[in-house]
Amino acid sequence: WVLMATGRSPTNIAVIKYWGKRDEALILPVNDSISVTLDPDHLSATTTVAVSPSFPSDRMWLNGKDISLSGGRFQNCLREIRKRARDVEDEKKGIRIKKEDWDKLHVHIASYNNFPTAAGLASSAAGFACLVFTLGKLMNVKEDYGELSSIARQGSGSACRSIYGGFVKWCMGKNNDGSDSIAVQLADEAHWNDLVIIIAVVSSKQKETSSTSGMRDSVETSPLLQYRAQTIVPNRVLKMEEAIKSRNFESFARLTCADSNQFHAVCMDTSPPIFYMNDTSHRIISLVEKWNQSEGTPQIAYTFDAGPNAVLIAPNRKNATLLLQKLLYCFPPQHNDLSSYMVGDKSIL
Ligand code: DP6
Repeated sequence: WVLMATGRSPTNIAVIKYWGKRDEALILPVNDSISVTLDPDHLSATTTVAVSPSFPSDRMWLNGKDISLSGGRFQNCLREIRKRARDVEDEKKGIRIKKEDWDKLHVHIASYNNFPTAAGLASSAAGFACLVFTLGKLMNVKEDYGELSSIARQGSGSACRSIYGGFVKWCMGKNNDGSDSIAVQLADEAHWNDLVIIIAVVSSKQKETSSTSGMRDSVETSPLLQYRAQTIVPNRVLKMEEAIKSRNFESFARLTCADSNQFHAVCMDTSPPIFYMNDTSHRIISLVEKWNQSEGTPQIAYTFDAGPNAVLIAPNRKNATLLLQKLLYCFPPQHNDLSSYMVGDKSIL
């Protein structure tokens, strides 16, 4: 017999960035972070997990490719879910798995990203959130989403925020065992649904410095990182929570842009410096900044993760449409600086 479960998780975009760990093994961050989870139709991972007494070992396929499961992060997630597994009974199939049997059974995992292959966007957040959620479903894990988020965190830090939709805060926590380093939902997906997120794909190449090694270098060498984590972020998180609660786009945009810029300043403050953005990214920032200044109030927010692609957030469809027009004017298709635009709401194009 084979028992299966399938789940889907979207990726999330941080508006207050996570950058730096205080514990590498447990993936515990040096500051709180806040993100918005995308709509699952656009950038998400879909995972099917299966269990059968005939499987000789745990195996995983990512986008159809056999991948090794020896990495500590996969093993940590699997172990934590197995620990919480419960009895499962499927009367129709005549399957009964006792709690204690899960340790002896192996799983097969098949995961797909619906990220356009050209996008070069991080997929580990959606991938680990989906893996943990779906394994939990298969093994009848009854723990709440907070607990699941702390398991997903051990796969990839940012993954803990993808357990929820809407706006999510990853509370850094204080405990050494990571038990209070969990994600909480600040507002659900319906709370601010006028927002439109546009991702301008600047480069589809894989980033040269992974987030994991980049933030390790920053922790070791950047004096700005400590200052940011201890002095700037705590205050910014409070203001961001307030902006989200009251749907105050002006405040939301100012905080989002400032935090993205400070994260990249920390990267520059790292030795040797890390450059995630390129000239095209910088031109997009100038375009948005000029537009925001000419109107006297923010029309668009921008944020960049560990790569050159721009995530642009508009308060409504009118601004999103204007933004696309401006981008097309500055980056005509023949120039190829921008390979594509991905729009959260397809009807805009
Ligand atoms: C810039 O979650 O990919 O996107 O925990 O080492 O897997 P690991 O790193 P990861 O880092 C994400 C960094 C970021 C900011 C963010 O998402 O908060």
